[in-house]
Amino acid sequence: MEIYLAPLQGLTDWIFRESFSEHIGQFDKTFTPFVRVQNDEFFRPSQCNDLIPAHNVFQNPVPQFLGNDFESFKKFEDLCLQNDYKEVNINMGCPFPIVVKKGMGAGILPNSAQIAQLMEAIFSTTKLNISIKCRLGLDNTAEFEHLIPIFNSYPLSEVIIHARLGKQQYKGEVNMEAFGKYAALLKHPICYNGDILSLKDVEQIETLTPNVSRIMIGRGILQNPFLLAEIKRQELTRDAKVKMLRDFHISIIERCKEKYAGNLNLLRRLEEMWSYHYEGFEDGKKIFKQIKKANTLEKYEGVIFKAINEM
Ligand SMILES: Cc1cc2nc3c(=O)[nH]c(=O)nc-3n(C[C@H](O)[C@H](O)[C@H](O)COP(=O)(O)O)c2cc1C
Repeated sequence: MEIYLAPLQGLTDWIFRESFSEHIGQFDKTFTPFVRVQNDEFFRPSQCNDLIPAHNVFQNPVPQFLGNDFESFKKFEDLCLQNDYKEVNINMGCPFPIVVKKGMGAGILPNSAQIAQLMEAIFSTTKLNISIKCRLGLDNTAEFEHLIPIFNSYPLSEVIIHARLGKQQYKGEVNMEAFGKYAALLKHPICYNGDILSLKDVEQIETLTPNVSRIMIGRGILQNPFLLAEIKRQELTRDAKVKMLRDFHISIIERCKEKYAGNLNLLRRLEEMWSYHYEGFEDGKKIFKQIKKANTLEKYEGVIFKAINEM
């Protein structure tokens, strides 16, 4: 089974990916959170910092494009080529209403004609390998049926499917049945994504869709960073885990100091990570409360290193 780290905007940035890869484990692939390009312009130019090679030493991410027109894709492709990337991923899954309303992310899924046009323009010129990350549709899975012949007409390197509809955002059940049905109709390698929180979840995917040999995990890794080792059936002692997690957090803090000018932004960034990470600790809720109260980096460090030492 190949295991990928999911892109999570604001969470699995280069700081997280580098710290994780250096101190906890190596994924088969990592992805940058989306870089939004609109009207041939980078929507937030700072998003491009995530794919600078100097920020990606311990892992080599696949840069992700969010946009819906060829000129914007070209702009992104040029940036990726300048930085020596060989593959990019196209986001057709983002469910944020402001993105969907613009016909991007999951908002493009009902518009199969536009997807066909974009694919044709991209594949007639691109020098990159192209993969897609998508949902099973925006409002219903019937939308996906129109996409299958389009996707099958192009040599995509893989299709990563988050087995939900866009309208579900990140809640509600994943639809394993529809995922299995459509995965079998696509001729590309397929990667499963959605709600993998344990080795048992992976075993269930292996049983239900034996032809799928790639999985992508996001929130499950933030909750339990040792899930990667558990899926690889690697045994880790408690002492080894404590050391790995300490070094990971030290590395996150050091890199955040480089990135964020003020302590307030830095603490907000760390709190955002802990809004998922706390769930992996027995006393997680209490720890998260203390983190939210910590108004200096020293107090934050005091709380988290105590929690790690006692885990
Ligand atoms: C806060 C947050 C930010 C996300 N940002 C991105 C993103 O930039 N690009 C993307 O393709 N998916 C993004 N996703 C979706 C995840 O990559 C993934 O598809 C989803 O969380 C389901 O997988 P999981 O249950 O393993 O987390 C985001 C999800 C969350 C919760």
